[in-house]
Amino acid sequence: MLRIAIFVSGGGSNLQNIIDDIQSGDLKDVKIARVVASKTGTLAEQRAIKHRIPVSIFVNSDSSDTEALLAQLAEDQTDMIVLAGYLQKINHEIIRAFPDKIINIHPALLPKHGGVGMYGIRPHEAVLAAGEQTTGATVHTVNEEYDKGKILLQKEVKVFSDDTAESLQTRVMLEAERVILPQVIQEFALAKKVGTAPFAAGL
Ligand code: GAR
Repeated sequence: MLRIAIFVSGGGSNLQNIIDDIQSGDLKDVKIARVVASKTGTLAEQRAIKHRIPVSIFVNSDSSDTEALLAQLAEDQTDMIVLAGYLQKINHEIIRAFPDKIINIHPALLPKHGGVGMYGIRPHEAVLAAGEQTTGATVHTVNEEYDKGKILLQKEVKVFSDDTAESLQTRVMLEAERVILPQVIQEFALAKKVGTAPFAAGL
């Protein structure tokens, strides 16, 4: 069983997808051991509470916060961290504690339209401003540099001439994020089960 902690900041639709896939049996050998929210009162937090998943609020303000969080994650026997719409930078201590075991979903085809400030609706605005004909989503590992980890999986989505940033955001979530984040988590779970590295030589 792969025990994951899912970090969230907002709507939690990616969190909900993972909950749904575990419940339907589409995602096997995975348990959400904890949801970590960057603030209280988010829809993502409500989704976790509804499904009786333990929630921690992590404001990342000082090192004692980080120590307490890492102790909690160790107690939960956390295998990996999934950033699903988590809009704070992950600090060095957490990255060091989970080397190659933190993944993020980004709503564009990295290395394009990533980096500091590129979150939520902004990558979609940037895609339209650049006149791209395709966009999509990327799952990548998290290292010290924003959106610069190893790319694990991407899925493309077509941009239509009448798209707005909002319509694009909705389609990227449904057609790309919905598919690739559970797929990557499944790969990690399978790798743990058979005792190999996920993504073969990659990690
Ligand atoms: C998602 O579109 C995710 O890709 C994006 O935030 C949204 C969160 O939605 N993440 C980033 O922009 C990270 N740079 P959700 O809370 O409903 O899953």
